[in-house]
Amino acid sequence: MITPERQLRLVRRIFTRVAPVYDLLNHLLSLGEDRRWRRFLARAVRPGPTGRVLDVATGTGDVALALATSPARPRVIGLDLLPAMLAPAQTKAARRGLSLPLVCGDALHLPFPEACFDAVTIAFGIRNIPHRVAALAEMARVLVPGGRLYVLELATPTSPRLRRLYRVYLQGLLPRLGGLISRQGDAYQYLADTILAFPAPAQFRAELRAAGLVAPRSYALTRGVAWLHVAERPQAG
Ligand SMILES: C[S@@+](CC[C@H](N)C(=O)[O-])C[C@H]1O[C@@H](n2cnc3c(N)ncnc32)[C@H](O)[C@@H]1O
Repeated sequence: MITPERQLRLVRRIFTRVAPVYDLLNHLLSLGEDRRWRRFLARAVRPGPTGRVLDVATGTGDVALALATSPARPRVIGLDLLPAMLAPAQTKAARRGLSLPLVCGDALHLPFPEACFDAVTIAFGIRNIPHRVAALAEMARVLVPGGRLYVLELATPTSPRLRRLYRVYLQGLLPRLGGLISRQGDAYQYLADTILAFPAPAQFRAELRAAGLVAPRSYALTRGVAWLHVAERPQAG
């Protein structure tokens, strides 16, 4: 069992070091599926009256960029704890001539007033935040009433047979291959450990409710290797 303090130290160290090869490893280790998952998320998001969407734990910015270029063209802000992860996001946005405001900040203390976004997204980020329900409640706070939170996260497949195979991949090949390419041996062991420790969809939906969100639902992607969880801030009154 990892303490919140140790997890925060690990997150800072691992993502700062892995940032330059983060995108490459993501595509490689997910066999390119990560692109499809992010596209699925970007297509699901429906902007509303404010026209603003916040992407928390934006990292190297792929979700924020997919959102910013989606047909509804919302104004997207990306937020992340680590400047090293935001640097590639900045470069990618500039290369594509897109204005993408990027903010260095903590998901637990979002530097925005209440009710100022139609939607909040977080992709592969919530697994890295030890105080999960508090972070979800903070994301709910900045949503307009009726606004939606979209959480894209990795898990283990639903079928027991596939789950067994996937465990072998997570605990064997993934840390070895990831460690070899990134030269950060512990980074991909951390990834495997956090995926295995993440709650099952029904349990995560209970956490969304505990954070004050309503109508949670979950959509399985690639046989449950990834999930999109959606929930709403209750309407006022
Ligand atoms: C696995 S990466 C996901 C990046 C990106 N969303 C994607 O789709 O690839 C996790 C990100 O969460 C960020 N993160 C971890 N804890 C955070 C926190 N408390 N507040 C904001 N960002 C955080 C890390 O810096 C890292 O960039």
